[in-house]
Amino acid sequence: MTPAAGRMDHVSEDGIRLLVDTFYTKVRADSELGPIFERAIKDNWPHHLEKMYAFWSSVMLTSGRYKGNPVIKHMALPGMQPELFTRWLALFDETCRELCDDAIRDAYKEKAERIAESLKLALFYRPDRPWPPQASSAS
Ligand code: HEM
Repeated sequence: MTPAAGRMDHVSEDGIRLLVDTFYTKVRADSELGPIFERAIKDNWPHHLEKMYAFWSSVMLTSGRYKGNPVIKHMALPGMQPELFTRWLALFDETCRELCDDAIRDAYKEKAERIAESLKLALFYRPDRPWPPQASSAS
């Protein structure tokens, strides 16, 4: 299939900036995710976005630019729920679909899903509870 005109056909630092900016614009407007981010980040968005450019650069370009501990950061967030990862991944994939060719979209999607799964396990897995979480035990 011919790539749609103007969509990214490779991963670059400029492309990551566009992807991250577009994704967090959607996140901030989202009724479920928006409040969690606004509470944690307040007026510090430029700093958060810089961190996320570095994170995706490390993940996709193995640049080593990101230094941090996402597990600890997410553990400290009030209002985190396993189900919110589904929403996060849907918005992320929607952004990739708008901006990237299929192969690049798939590459981002695979990484995002893998990282989301390991974050979810780190945050919510308990040996004495079933995994994945059951809808009926979510409350
Ligand atoms: C339910 C889904 C998620 C929510 C609500 C969420 C929310 C947040 C918030 C509010 C912050 C800022 C924390 C702070 O500065 O105090 C943050 C940071 C971050 N998030 Fe997420 N996140 C989610 C999923 C993910 C996923 C799936 C990834 C990776 C694929 C990710 C990667 C990161 C990274 C790298 C940081 C920066 C951590 C640092 O300060 O070094 N997040 N997240």
